[in-house]
Amino acid sequence: MKIIYDETQKVFHLSNGRISYIMQVLRDGYLFHLYWGKGIRDYHLSNGLFPYVRSFSPSPYFESPEFSTDSRPGEFPGYGCGDFRSPIVQCQRQDGSTLTDLRVVSHEIIQGKPPLEGLPASYVKNDSEAMTLSICMEDRISGLRATLLYTIFEKYDVICRSARYENVGKESLKLLQAGSMSLDFQHCDYDLITLWGGHANERNLQRRPLSHGITMIDSKRGASSHQYAPFLCLTEPAATEDQGKVYGFNLVYSGNFAALAEVDQFNLTRVQMGINPFDFCWLLETGEAFQAPETVMVFSSEGLGEMSRTYHRFYRERLCRGKFQFEERPILINNWEATYFNFDSKKILDIAQKGKELGMELFVLDDGWFGHRDNDKSSLGDWTVFQSKIPEGIDGLAKKITDMGIRFGLWFEPEMISVDSDLYRAHPDWCLHVKDRSHTFSRSQLVLDFSRKDVCDYIVEAVCKVLSGGNISYVKWDMNRHMTDIGSALLPAGRQRETAHRYMLGVYDVMNRITSAFPDVLFESCSGGGGRFDPGILYYMPQTWTSDNTDAVCRLKIQYGTSLTYPIVSMGSHVSVAPNHQMGRTTPMDTRGYCAMSGAFGYELDITRLSKEDEQMVREQVAFYKKIRKTVQYGDFYRLLSPFEGNQTAWSFVEPDKSRAIVMWFQTLNEPNTGVTILHCKGLDPEGLYCDENSGRVFGGDELMEAGLSIPLPERDFDSKIFILSKVQNNG
Ligand code: DGJ
Repeated sequence: MKIIYDETQKVFHLSNGRISYIMQVLRDGYLFHLYWGKGIRDYHLSNGLFPYVRSFSPSPYFESPEFSTDSRPGEFPGYGCGDFRSPIVQCQRQDGSTLTDLRVVSHEIIQGKPPLEGLPASYVKNDSEAMTLSICMEDRISGLRATLLYTIFEKYDVICRSARYENVGKESLKLLQAGSMSLDFQHCDYDLITLWGGHANERNLQRRPLSHGITMIDSKRGASSHQYAPFLCLTEPAATEDQGKVYGFNLVYSGNFAALAEVDQFNLTRVQMGINPFDFCWLLETGEAFQAPETVMVFSSEGLGEMSRTYHRFYRERLCRGKFQFEERPILINNWEATYFNFDSKKILDIAQKGKELGMELFVLDDGWFGHRDNDKSSLGDWTVFQSKIPEGIDGLAKKITDMGIRFGLWFEPEMISVDSDLYRAHPDWCLHVKDRSHTFSRSQLVLDFSRKDVCDYIVEAVCKVLSGGNISYVKWDMNRHMTDIGSALLPAGRQRETAHRYMLGVYDVMNRITSAFPDVLFESCSGGGGRFDPGILYYMPQTWTSDNTDAVCRLKIQYGTSLTYPIVSMGSHVSVAPNHQMGRTTPMDTRGYCAMSGAFGYELDITRLSKEDEQMVREQVAFYKKIRKTVQYGDFYRLLSPFEGNQTAWSFVEPDKSRAIVMWFQTLNEPNTGVTILHCKGLDPEGLYCDENSGRVFGGDELMEAGLSIPLPERDFDSKIFILSKVQNNG
């Protein structure tokens, strides 16, 4: 791993042997991008910038019309000084002008990786793991400084980029855009992959050829959202799961974001990511600073599969934290789809008792345990007021359940407030709102103003008070609506457009305080399912409820799409009842089981009312998952067949030392007289011999990967098969 600065050519070269990232400073501090991809030993400007004169491309130099930021691959473009493409940063001065012209003034090479103030970010455990290049750029007229950080890691094919803005001038500035990263590829022959969706339909994989113009995904919802993951990826057109160059970008942020790919007139491709500049403005007084979030950039020359495995490893090992980072996650039973709001303590105790009998390890009491919440219209905010339907109170209930020998977990929705709540009656100005305007409701609730310290302090105190009762070893942190009426009662007029980002800073601060106070509690985030499944939240909470849609067929797509960047262990995944509550579909119990076992496994149905046959299957599933859990949660994940391309889905989990692989295959609708599916396994030791534990047959690793594994003809809709391939010895 090295970061080299060639003084003569003014070239920066970051490399870990496998990947290289290269930039050049020209003339008066202009920073250009030259290369990101497979490792290069020594760089000699083979693809350096030719001095073409391009008409209508302006130059800052009268005598050098060929020098234009408009026609060259930029690295951190400002606004109004020659580059007509999308800027990554723009600030406004007191005189109203918005020109922003950042030039390199200095740089520093740092061992390790500095943390980002107030924001989640990847980290190193030891400074020897990574090196960081810090490039200081300044706009000498406005006094805006941007410090760009680039971290390269010894062990991961990842570059982390972020930007910190500071006002080092004499007048206050308005940051109108404060992006995290920008990068120009020198051609446009790429496909673009994004993950789109909606509630109960998260992270559908969309792949399309890039074309001229701007393709943008964003969120203006105050959350990273179900609608678009803060992720995009460029691939060579021919790239597949296993081959071809792939460039992934993922923002470590949970609020409004924007990500774009712009192909310009010269066929250059600009990729940008950061906080959404729409309705954003940040006042920077002299001496003040603003930290933009980090983008995690992964390069793979071995297709999408390797990109995903790099994200998975990196997020598991250098983004997630805490006691559960490497722990096998408990098999849980959640009462939501079993009872919704309609429960009493007897029903809850019965479910927990049955869960214990079936081998489950954690009971989770979902929404409806506080205030007088018998539906979704009241009580959010009243976390310390207890429901009459639980006469023993949460402490008493938790004790009874833990005494059964099963752990106890509890649902909260800390960021919300109901109008019908003691909290709202006491503090009607604690919600996001704009003076003189009426509220806009969603799920009958309002959003608490987490940009306010008093609100954050209240929530920390209330949640901590409940958790302090002891016996609570898991928290589900929900968030069930998006932001409207964005305004804060405490911020002055000139700072109102800071509200949405200040809200996120408040959320991160509250999450930090609560999770640090209860290090033995496993936190799972949720936002109407996977509406805030992003690396920002994973930094505080190592798993997320992937979707409110528990139908196995829909889940195949949702989990496949999610696996593009997020680790398997982070995906909460439950077996629910048939017919399914969201889709009305009846799928077999074994298929529901295998699909849910492809993540952090659990159940979410009334297990006190199972048929004898289903009860026995659940008992077996629970026992079986315990045997495969470590490989599923911490193994290497390989996608084999895509539900976005056909009727079948397949994936596998392989132990890092290749000693065992769990292969799962699913088919949606059965078809008459079809050909036999042959599944080509991946990631095995080609030299090894593997025994299929079900049939006892032994195959070579090379054979399973090249000749493949025949799938017996399915006999029903929604069929599934599983193969446990254990290495018995090395071949030869
Ligand atoms: C939305 C979540 O995604 C569900 O699992 C459940 O917790 C409900 N909220 C409760 O209101």
